[in-house]
Amino acid sequence: MDTVLTASSRKAETLYFQLAEDLAQAIANGTLQPGEKLPSIRKLSAQRQVSLSTVMEAYRELEDRGLIEARPQSGFYVRITRAFVAPELTQPPQKPSDVVVDPLLAPAELARLHDLKVDFGLAILSPKLFPNQAIQRILAQVTRHDPDILADYGKPIGDVELRRQIARRALTWGGQIDADEILITHGALEALNLCLRAVTQPGDVVAIESPAYFGLLQILESFQLKALEIPTHPQTGISIEALELATRNGQVKACVLLPNFSNPLGSLMPDDNKRRLVELLESRNVPLIEDDIYGEFFYHGERPRPAKAFDRTGNVMLIASFTKMVAPAFRVGWVVAGRWHRELEQLKFINTYSTPLPLQRAIARFLENGGYDHHLRRLRRACADQVNAAVSAIQRYFPADTRLHVPQGGYVLWVELGGNVDTLELLQRALAEGIAFTPGPLFSPSRSYRNCLRICCVEPWTVRHEKAIQRLGELAAVRG
Ligand SMILES: Cc1ncc(COP(=O)(O)O)c(C=O)c1O
Repeated sequence: MDTVLTASSRKAETLYFQLAEDLAQAIANGTLQPGEKLPSIRKLSAQRQVSLSTVMEAYRELEDRGLIEARPQSGFYVRITRAFVAPELTQPPQKPSDVVVDPLLAPAELARLHDLKVDFGLAILSPKLFPNQAIQRILAQVTRHDPDILADYGKPIGDVELRRQIARRALTWGGQIDADEILITHGALEALNLCLRAVTQPGDVVAIESPAYFGLLQILESFQLKALEIPTHPQTGISIEALELATRNGQVKACVLLPNFSNPLGSLMPDDNKRRLVELLESRNVPLIEDDIYGEFFYHGERPRPAKAFDRTGNVMLIASFTKMVAPAFRVGWVVAGRWHRELEQLKFINTYSTPLPLQRAIARFLENGGYDHHLRRLRRACADQVNAAVSAIQRYFPADTRLHVPQGGYVLWVELGGNVDTLELLQRALAEGIAFTPGPLFSPSRSYRNCLRICCVEPWTVRHEKAIQRLGELAAVRG
C-alpha cells in the first residue's frame, strides 16, 4: 500500500500531471466545451512555460482518461461524449443448428474481390505495428549459427526453447504450465481444428458464444458439427445461466469460447464467471476449448486471466498464437490441451507433422531477449488508440440509436444499428465506395445480427479512416 501511495503522490507532483489536472478541471466546469479544439502543443508550452514533452504527456494523460482525443492532422479536441445506448444480452435461437457460412462474406474474400480504400473487415494488424526488423535479425542469427536447423523437421510437439518461453510467460497470469504440456501449432486455427477433432464426432453439438468468430463457424461446418448459440453479453461474455440450462440434457459435447476480448463482441468475462464456467463444464463433462488469442491485448491494468487459470482437472484446452502479437507470417500458435495432450500430439503428427522449426526458434529468442514486453506495450497502446479513435468517430457520425460497448482490449468493435438497417445491404453500398466491414450475419449460424457489423481497428487512425466512418454513418442513417 505504501508503495502505491508513494508512486501516486510522486505522479501528482509532476508538472504534466498538474497541467492535466488544470485542463480536466476546465473541461469539467465547461470552460472548455465538448468538441472545442485545445491549444496546440507548442502554444500551450509557451503559455504555461513548460516543455513540449510536458504538454504532450498531459494530453496523453487526458486521452487515457477519455477526456480529449487527437484528430489526425488537426490537433487535440475535447471529446464529445454522447453515451451509447448500452447493448444487451444477445438472444440467439435456443436450438442447435447446422452451420453454413457464406464464404463470399468473409473479409479476405471481400478484400480480394473489391478495390478497397479502407478495410475495416480484416482483423489483421498493420505491418507497421510488428517488430519486423528485430525478427528478421533474430531469424538470420538463428540460421547463421545453426544452418542445419533448415534441414530439421523438428518434432510434432514443437521446439523446447519456445515451449519453455511460453511456460515462463504463463506465470504472469498464474499459470502453472509445464513446457511438456504445450503443443506448438500452425496458428490458433490449427489448434482449434485439432481440439475439435479430438473431442467431437460429426453431428455433435458444440456450444459457442453468440455472435461467434466466423473462422470457428467454418471449422464447425467442415467437421459437420452443429452449433448451439448461447446468449452472450457484450460486456461480460457468455451467460453462465444459459450455458447451465443448455448443458443439462447432455446434448453439448464441447464448448468453444473466447473469455478474454472475444471476437467480435470484445467482451471480457469477469474472473468469477470464468471460475463458474470451468466448474460447470467440468461437472457436466463437457470440454472447454478456450481461444485466448486476444488475452494479451488489454489496455489497462493486469493481463486478464484465461479460464484455464481455474482448471484443476485438465478439462480446459487453452489456445493462443503469436500471429496476432509477433509475426503474422510465421503462423506459430500453441495449445495446452490438458487431458487431450497425447491425442493432440497424434493429430498434429498426421495433420502437418510439425511447425517450421526456424520460425519457432526465432520467436523463442525474441521472447527471451528481443524486447517482447516493450513491443507488447506499444502494440496494446496502438490498439487502444485505434479503437478509441474509431469509437469517437462512430459517436460523431453514426445515428443516435447506435449501440456499442467500448471494449477494454483487443481491436474489434461490434456495432449494433437501430431501426431496420440491414448490414448485408449496407455492405454492398459501402463496397461500392471502397469501404469494407464484416456484416453481423457472418458471425451466427442462424444468420442473426442483420443490424450489426464488426469494425476492425487495425491501422493507425488517419483522415481516410475518419472519412470512411463518416460515410458509413451517413449510409446507415438511410432507413428503408
Ligand atoms: C478468435 C480468433 N481465433 C483464431 C484466429 C486464427 O488465429 P491464427 O492466425 O493464429 O491461426 C483468429 C484470427 O483472426 C481469431 O480472430
